Amino acid sequence: MKPPKPASRPDRVSLWRYMQLFRQDILSAQPARLYRAWMAEFRTPFFRSYMMNQPDLVKTVLKDRPEDFPKSDRIGEGLRPLLGNSVFLTNGETWKRQRRIIDPAFEGGRLRETFPAMWDASEAAAGRLREGVSEIEAQTSHAAADVIFRTLFSIPIENELAAAVFDEFRIYQRSQPILNLAAFVPLPKWMPRLFRRDTRASAARIRDLIGQLVAARADEIAKGTAPDDLATKIMTTQDPVTGEKFAPEEMIDQVAIFFLAGHETSASALAWALYLMALYPDWQDKVAAEAQALSTCDFSVISKLSVTRDVFRETLRLYPPVPMMVRENTCPEHFRDRDVPKGSQLVLSPWHLHRHERLWDQPDDFDPARWHTENGKACQREAYIPFSTGARVCTGAGFAMVEGVLILARLLRDFEVETVNGRNPVPVAHLTVRAQDGIWLRLRKRQR
Ligand code: HEM
Repeated sequence: MKPPKPASRPDRVSLWRYMQLFRQDILSAQPARLYRAWMAEFRTPFFRSYMMNQPDLVKTVLKDRPEDFPKSDRIGEGLRPLLGNSVFLTNGETWKRQRRIIDPAFEGGRLRETFPAMWDASEAAAGRLREGVSEIEAQTSHAAADVIFRTLFSIPIENELAAAVFDEFRIYQRSQPILNLAAFVPLPKWMPRLFRRDTRASAARIRDLIGQLVAARADEIAKGTAPDDLATKIMTTQDPVTGEKFAPEEMIDQVAIFFLAGHETSASALAWALYLMALYPDWQDKVAAEAQALSTCDFSVISKLSVTRDVFRETLRLYPPVPMMVRENTCPEHFRDRDVPKGSQLVLSPWHLHRHERLWDQPDDFDPARWHTENGKACQREAYIPFSTGARVCTGAGFAMVEGVLILARLLRDFEVETVNGRNPVPVAHLTVRAQDGIWLRLRKRQR
C-alpha cells in the first residue's frame, strides 16, 4: 500500500472552480502535472504567480539571491495580529538583526544543552499514551508544545500559563486558519482587510499570556536567578553589530513564532511518521529495536538512532509540514522561457518538489533506505527542502531533527501502532499538512 496522497484536480478548471478548490485545500486544488513540471504559471485577474520546481531555480530564489526575493507583506497579513514583527515575517535589516540575536540560541552546540528538556518531554509524552484507538495528532501537538515550553522557558505544558497559551492557540486556529487563501492568492491592495473580531481578541490574549512569561523572565534575569534555557539565551544576547537586545515587545513576537512554527510543524511530522510506522510494520520493528538504546538521558544516544532518522527524514519528504512557501520578486526576472514581471508571487513547493516524478526514484513510495542510494543522496542535496534552505532556512531545523527522532523512537519503544480500518487519513494543508479527519491509530503496549 502506498502512503496517502490527495487526489489531484482535473487539468483544466475555471478560475471560479479553482478558487473554490483552493479554499478547501491547496494540495488537492492543484493538477497532477505539477508533479512533473519544472515551472508553472497561474494567471488570474488580480495577480500572477509562478510555481517553481526546478532545483536550480529554487536555489536562485532561496539560496543565491534571497534579498531579491523577500517575503511579501501580503503573505503575512493573516498572521500579523498574532506575530507582530516576528522573524518569520520581517525582511531586510530588521530580519538580519533578529536572526543575529536568535541564531546563537539554536546553534548545533546548544542542542546538547537543550536535550534534557526534550528528553523529559518525550518521557511525559510516552506516559500520556494509552492503549486502544486514538487520534494521534492531538497527542503529538501536546508533546511538541511541551517541548517548546520546556526548552524555551523551562516549564512543562501543565504549567498554568503554558497550558493557557496552548488552549488559546487552538481557539485562534479555529477562528483563523493561518495558511489561508489570502496567503496564496493575494487580494488587490484596495480591498479592505478585515480580521474577524474574535481572531484579533484571541491573538491579543495569546500575546498577553506570552507577555507575562517574558516579563517574569526579565525579572529573573535581572535578579540573576534565570534558568539557562533558550529564553534566557535569546533575551540576554546582544546583536554583535548594533549592540541591541530584544525589547520585551519584540521578544513576545519571537516567542509567538517559536511556539507556532515550532509546535505545529513537529506535531504534523510526528503524527505522519507514526501513521507510516503503522502502515509499514517492518520499519516500525527496526525503529523499535533501535529505541531500546533510550535508557538514560544522554545526548549521544541520538547518533545511535540512524534508522529512526531515515524514517523521520522520509516522513518530511512525503509530508513536508510546510507544504509551500511564497516569495515576491523585487525586479523583473526571466526564468526558463518566461518573463516574470516585478511583484509576482513565486511559490516554492516542498510538497511537489519532494514528489517530483522527474527527480526521485519511486517518488510516492515510502522508502527510508533511499537516503543511502545515489538517487536519494542527489535528491537530498537538490530537491529536498522541508526546512527551506539558504539564509531564511528554519532556525529550528537542527532542533526539530533531534526532537522528532527522539520522540518517535521513545513512543515506539513502549507502544506498537496499527492502522484502524476505515480510517485512512487524507492529507490536507491547514496551517501545516494535516489529515482531513485526524490520524487514528490503535496503540498496544509493546512486549519486550
Ligand atoms: C519538523 C519541524 C519543522 C519544519 C518542517 C519547519 C519548517 C520551516 C520552514 C519550511 C520554514 C521557512 C518558511 C518560509 O520561508 O516561508 C521555517 C521557518 C522558521 N522556523 Fe521552522 N520548521 C520546523 C520546526 C521549527 C522549530 C522547532 C522552530 C523553533 C523552535 C522553528 C522556527 C522557525 C522560525 C523562527 C522560522 C523563520 C525563519 C526566518 O524566516 O528567518 N521551526 N520552518
